Amino acid sequence: MKFTPRSPSSFSGFNSSLKHPIYFVLSSNIFPSFMATLSTQTDSHEDPDDRLCAATSGCSSLQQNCSSSSSSAALPMSSESPSPSSSLGSPARCLNGEWRIDRAWTHWKKLGQPKLMVAPMVDNSELPFRMLCRKYGAGAAYTPMLHSRIFSENEKYRTQEFTTCKEDRPLFVQFCANDPDILLEAARMVEPHCDYVDINLGCPQRIARRGNYGAFLMDNLPLIKSLVQKLADNLHVPVSCKIRIFSNLQDTITYARMLEDAGCSLLAVHGRTRDEKDGKKFRADWNAIKAVKGAVKIPVLANGNIRHMDDVHRCLEETGADGVLSAESLLENPALFAGFRTAEWVEADEESNIDGKLDQADLLVEYLKLCESYPVPWRIIRSHVHKMLGDWFRIHPQVREDLNAQSRLTFEFLYDMVNRLRELGTRIPLYVKGSHAGGPTENGVDTRN
Ligand SMILES: Cc1cc2nc3c(=O)[nH]c(=O)nc-3n(C[C@H](O)[C@H](O)[C@H](O)COP(=O)(O)O)c2cc1C
Repeated sequence: MKFTPRSPSSFSGFNSSLKHPIYFVLSSNIFPSFMATLSTQTDSHEDPDDRLCAATSGCSSLQQNCSSSSSSAALPMSSESPSPSSSLGSPARCLNGEWRIDRAWTHWKKLGQPKLMVAPMVDNSELPFRMLCRKYGAGAAYTPMLHSRIFSENEKYRTQEFTTCKEDRPLFVQFCANDPDILLEAARMVEPHCDYVDINLGCPQRIARRGNYGAFLMDNLPLIKSLVQKLADNLHVPVSCKIRIFSNLQDTITYARMLEDAGCSLLAVHGRTRDEKDGKKFRADWNAIKAVKGAVKIPVLANGNIRHMDDVHRCLEETGADGVLSAESLLENPALFAGFRTAEWVEADEESNIDGKLDQADLLVEYLKLCESYPVPWRIIRSHVHKMLGDWFRIHPQVREDLNAQSRLTFEFLYDMVNRLRELGTRIPLYVKGSHAGGPTENGVDTRN
């Protein structure tokens, strides 16, 4: 079997310094002067990729017009008291530690204790991508990080950046924040539509340093505690946190226990420090995740180095975690949790791996169809096209150049592009282990389609 060599970056077509493009968009949003510019911007100054893909079908607003044609909706936001589907009932204000732990597990069990999760990804874990991953085995998913202040203040931001539908559950809605009252205001708007409100305590980007959120709050643990307590004491839906580790294990454990005591009901641990930004360069420390799992009583999810299902099994076994999150690898291969793997993870002598009769172009077409039902800005679709077809573009760089030359995308152009790649004779299969081939996986997902 001949396997495709890979280039060092899986983000071809993008400047590598822009791996997390929305962090830059949000960074601008954090400054009020730019905010004003944003809200008064005329169409002529808009980046064409920020248009919603629905615009091609004459649908300019995600809020109403499109929701009738699909089950997706930008949700009517209100701070009225919701009636969430949470199994927790009333806020945790008066509960002692043991009761809170019990409630955390009751809720997690009610959700079916999902093991395989789509990690939060700015500009990448949006509704259609979540739905695609769910089809291929993901048991739960996070939204991209939302900026709590902008979310609470700006309706346009809410309608564009947060969409969901009734099948999009269990769902974690993630916010970055540094003010408990503002965080609560934003959280109240989403709590009827999600299963956890998550606090981003792991973003290591420069913009998070400037905005004082994400992993930079690790320098101010009392502030983190107040954020968690505020939500735990006032929301009906439980609060979860996604953290990075400290370089000192004991600090990480103390941190995790503090979060649990403050009312956190579920903890996702990314096993890298905030200085270990490059996921390809630094392996996640699963031992630290194991230590956290042993130190707290709430459910713990492991994050880092989940590239295929063998990693999932090893990670769950080695850390004892209750589930895993995957990010970068899912972007290339949204069918990862259904047992498919890219050629990169197939050893040449591993004869048990066979063509899974599914490839990344098939997945892209499925994704595009979901985008037709659940409109998102074109910049997000463009980003997914590059990530899913990166290997294909390396073989036919002129196809990528044609894509990059399009300042305005259409679905027609993208479907034609996939056909052109196929006509050029390109096909890079996704592989499955023999026993999984063409049948239902352990996640109950039938991979024959
Ligand atoms: C494109 C991209 C965007 C991301 N955005 C977020 C985010 O919004 N919130 C967050 O907590 N982590 C974010 N992350 C980090 C991932 O959730 C995850 O913690 C990290 O990539 C490690 O997981 P992995 O080894 O499976 O890639 C992002 C990662 C990527 C690749």
